[in-house]
Amino acid sequence: MENLNFPPGFRWGVSTSAFQIEGAVTEDGRGPSIWDTFTATPGKIAGGEHARTAADHYHRYREDVALMARLGVDAYRFSFAWPRIQPTGKGAPEPRGLSFYDRLLDEICAAGIDPVATLYHWDTPQALEDAGGWLARDTAERFGEYAEILGTHFADRVKMWIPLNEPMVMSIFGYAIGEYAPGQTLLLGAIPTAHHQHLAHGLAVRALRAAGGKSIGTANNHSPVWPATDSAADVEGARQLDALLNRLFADPVLLGSYPEEFHEHLPPGFADDLPVIAQPLDFYGVNYYEPQGAAAPGEGNPLPFELRDVEGYPRTTNDSPIVPDAFRELLVQLKERYGDRLPPIMVTENGCSFADEVTPDGRVPDVARIDFLREHLRAVRAAMDAGVDVRGYFVWSLLDNFEWSKGYAPRFGLVHVDYRTQIRTPKDSYFWFRELIAAHGH
Ligand code: NOJ
Repeated sequence: MENLNFPPGFRWGVSTSAFQIEGAVTEDGRGPSIWDTFTATPGKIAGGEHARTAADHYHRYREDVALMARLGVDAYRFSFAWPRIQPTGKGAPEPRGLSFYDRLLDEICAAGIDPVATLYHWDTPQALEDAGGWLARDTAERFGEYAEILGTHFADRVKMWIPLNEPMVMSIFGYAIGEYAPGQTLLLGAIPTAHHQHLAHGLAVRALRAAGGKSIGTANNHSPVWPATDSAADVEGARQLDALLNRLFADPVLLGSYPEEFHEHLPPGFADDLPVIAQPLDFYGVNYYEPQGAAAPGEGNPLPFELRDVEGYPRTTNDSPIVPDAFRELLVQLKERYGDRLPPIMVTENGCSFADEVTPDGRVPDVARIDFLREHLRAVRAAMDAGVDVRGYFVWSLLDNFEWSKGYAPRFGLVHVDYRTQIRTPKDSYFWFRELIAAHGH
């Protein structure tokens, strides 16, 4: 049995999100979200796919919790769908929405697994988007109320709380370049959406604590940014991209300040919100997938950098270069940047996509995923040896699921899903991870 020497008490988990697995998008009073609208817009999703059924988790959650229990994880990170709880993003909660998560949480707890809840994994109620979405400060206020509802109802069972998943992706992919819902292309005009999400985070932390929520953190995705060459211009391009992808999303929360570069793009009076945004956290959740390349901007580029592929590494189906050591670099970099302001780190997502298939003997031999996970865990271990305090690791994802604008082709699960029959087949990586967890005494 493989043992990577993680200390006792290190948490082992798997992650999912509501829109990517639940389906049942019109059931039990759920309101439409920006992703329902986006998936219904021609040309936005590869192959015209939608998530009306997805992995049908809404109806199969018992089977899915049983899969986690057999895997032996001690924690499960899922997300609440805001439009199930408040179909229009405001007002009294929908009892049938609360009831679904009551049943889910009871099932998770009965299996001896600690629930880790994300409040928001990109599925903004469409009505709130129509009123301005994350461009509007009001959305942050609404989010605080939503957090209060969830805290009041679920703090007795949820063990760890994550207000927002990857606000960077919402701001950049959703509002700056439009590859994700809500599909706006505002470039630097999207910066206020970062601030309003930070404010939403702060208001939610406050509401959750008031409701008795104990362990509260983040799920911020980060990538070390590598200059394409060591020319001064490329190094400066990389510094600028690093400020946008990493510092804009970590500094306000951890330091209570914004990188200078963005001050002119932020809403007036932004500094007044920083005390709410920078409240102490119990853990800093990090999602890691890949390093990002950058260079000086070409002529006519309105941005201070240009994206570059990191070349010379194998890639996943989602076109991510596989660079485990960049994960160690990132974790060490976070510690160097934020020092004592950095709470213990929880790896809230790490994983990879391949075009996994079930063989005639009913197996899914996903050797590349096993290698990916092993090497990334070694990188986490190396960062810990270098003094970074990492407390747990959640694989993205338990199940194959709806990979946003890429549809269903990239398969991220430890468990294969046949979307025609909804049959679940644990992949070889599932059994490998199970042994790894067991070898660490869980
Ligand atoms: C991060 C996101 O949180 C998740 O929704 C997505 O599926 C994975 N990355 C893989 O791209």
